[in-house]
Amino acid sequence: MKAILIKKFGQPEELQFSEIQKPIINDDQVLIRVIAAGINPVDAKIRSGLHRSCKDLQLPAILGKDVSGIIEKVGSNVLDFKIGDEIFGLTNGSYAEYAIASAETIVKKPANISFYEVAAVSVAGLTAYQAINDQLQIKEGQKVLIQSAAGGVGHLATQFAKLAGAFVYGTSSAKNADFLLELGVDTSINYKAEKFEEIATGLDAVMDTMGGEILYRAINIVKPGGKVVCLPSSTKDDPIALKMAKERNVELIWPMMQPQKKHLQLFATLLEKGTLKVKVEKVFPLNEIVSAHETIESHSVSGKIVVGVSEPAKI
Ligand SMILES: NC(=O)c1ccc[n+]([C@@H]2O[C@H](COP(=O)([O-])OP(=O)(O)OC[C@H]3O[C@@H](n4cnc5c(N)ncnc54)[C@H](OP(=O)(O)O)[C@@H]3O)[C@@H](O)[C@H]2O)c1
Repeated sequence: MKAILIKKFGQPEELQFSEIQKPIINDDQVLIRVIAAGINPVDAKIRSGLHRSCKDLQLPAILGKDVSGIIEKVGSNVLDFKIGDEIFGLTNGSYAEYAIASAETIVKKPANISFYEVAAVSVAGLTAYQAINDQLQIKEGQKVLIQSAAGGVGHLATQFAKLAGAFVYGTSSAKNADFLLELGVDTSINYKAEKFEEIATGLDAVMDTMGGEILYRAINIVKPGGKVVCLPSSTKDDPIALKMAKERNVELIWPMMQPQKKHLQLFATLLEKGTLKVKVEKVFPLNEIVSAHETIESHSVSGKIVVGVSEPAKI
């Protein structure tokens, strides 16, 4: 099969086309013919060798955690899927024509949602849903600031915070102001022209996507007893942030996205009903994977980007 391999950590050009054997499933897994692979910042961090998981990664490796596709083989212990089922979820290596997944990390794709949209929802959606509902435990009427509200995680977190009944402040640049309003943001803040701490005050919670100075400024506007969830794992245990938070009686949480099947199932239901929407800004062909990585590293994607692996016309 065709696959994109990295043989060493480095720049996007390390992502190279290769011809390799199809993977072999065990009794608890399924073989997926990949239609689309969602691209996440973590893919680029792994490719560059900067992610903590790199020390355990055997090279050459296929990157890509978000997958959508069609089941081609089913392990003997897998009872809830059959050959031909259209699915989405998490895998280890979706930048390839075939990928394997545990039946515990995939769900069926709603018929009215495209393979591209569902390929974009798993990692960002799980991160967003767990931040809003599990870590921040947002309740009706609470005031929450979502940083990078137009980004992959942010545009989904904004929708989950609105579903929970929160008043949402969201930051973006001017080009995304209308998108933030479409998402339901109550007060949009242009982070290039305005100081968010002068507009969003007395907050119950913040979802931080940046760390550093931006995290410190956010801690200062959270009410005592409030919470901040800090998504970039590279900022974990920042001593300045920990000291500020302790002084203000604010809880800081550095989460790790959990592959919860019940959350993926919820996304399928919400997407099917139209209650949740995933924005796919661009679909790259597999042979433009280098551009896809350069784009995710620009930190300026509105919604998500996806790589199309198989032609939908062949489905
Ligand atoms: N801990 C975990 O388990 C976990 C899981 C997933 C992601 N993450 C991390 O969460 C972070 C966000 O991920 P993502 O996929 O949402 O990233 P992303 O989609 O690449 O974020 C892009 C967005 O960031 C916005 N942005 C750039 N600079 C900003 C600033 N100074 N203030 C506010 N917004 C800014 C951009 O808005 P404009 O284009 O409008 O400028 C763009 O919409 C990343 O660091 C990622 O590694 C952590």
